[in-house]
Amino acid sequence: MSLIKSKSDIKQLVEGGKIIGQILEKLGKMAKAGVSTWEIDQAAEKMILAAGGRPAFKGYKGYPEDTPFPTTICASCNHELVHGIAKKNVILKDGDIFTIDIGMEWPVRKEKEVRSKEKSERGCFTDTAITVVVGKADKEVEKLLRITRESLEVGIKAAQPGNSVADIGKAIEDFVKKQGNYGIVRDLVGHGVGHAVHEDPRVPNYYDKKLEHFILKPGMVIAIEPMISLGSHHVKTGPDGWTIVMADGSLCSHSEHTIVITEKGNLVITRRPSEK
Ligand code: MF3
Ligand code: CO
Ligand code: CO
Repeated sequence: MSLIKSKSDIKQLVEGGKIIGQILEKLGKMAKAGVSTWEIDQAAEKMILAAGGRPAFKGYKGYPEDTPFPTTICASCNHELVHGIAKKNVILKDGDIFTIDIGMEWPVRKEKEVRSKEKSERGCFTDTAITVVVGKADKEVEKLLRITRESLEVGIKAAQPGNSVADIGKAIEDFVKKQGNYGIVRDLVGHGVGHAVHEDPRVPNYYDKKLEHFILKPGMVIAIEPMISLGSHHVKTGPDGWTIVMADGSLCSHSEHTIVITEKGNLVITRRPSEK
């Protein structure tokens, strides 16, 4: 499948991105003490289905031997970085930091509406994440979240047509290093997106010389997603086989947007209403 999306794909991506941005904002507001991550997941699934989409992560397998990812959102608390599973017995409490990562295929037509000869039976995929504070967090944690959000904006600015994918990682890394002593996760990276959850290229949050030759072109769609910690950048996989946690147990933050490279710059298609 082409990394350059068609005009009609981009139209779907823009519409789907707007919907998922609205949904993620609502989910972020639900993150209050006493609420379970499961309740937030249920709300996410309902909103996606009501909008005519499909949760892109539920049932996802990174490798054929993986057990399918079970929930609509990735719900990751505190030292959990990404790919946490929403659970009834995980109740948010004041001072927690909580990452919601959500992906949607949109539009998804019901089986009977799809005529057999129709060419495009599948929708397009968007992917976006936020880390929020439950109640009040201390200054150090607020700064971690702010720097992560700002590093995403720095990465977005570097994602210009004619620039390389290496320019994005370099911009993010240089920015974060200037802010203090933070871990910049290396084992997980951003990615192409649109026809599937994960496509080429890899979009690391650090400088990678090998990506100098990968030039961004109008019509490419990528997810940029810095993952930053208060400790070392090392991660490990938890016992459930999905949840990725910081190896040293440090707190961590994740911000993600899906963007389309255009002739003149880029379009952030998953912006939340409050971000504009
Ligand atoms: N949202 C993740 C990403 O940003 C992918 C999640 S796949 C899942 O790339 F199966 F873990 F949900
Ligand atoms: Co994501
Ligand atoms: Co992603």
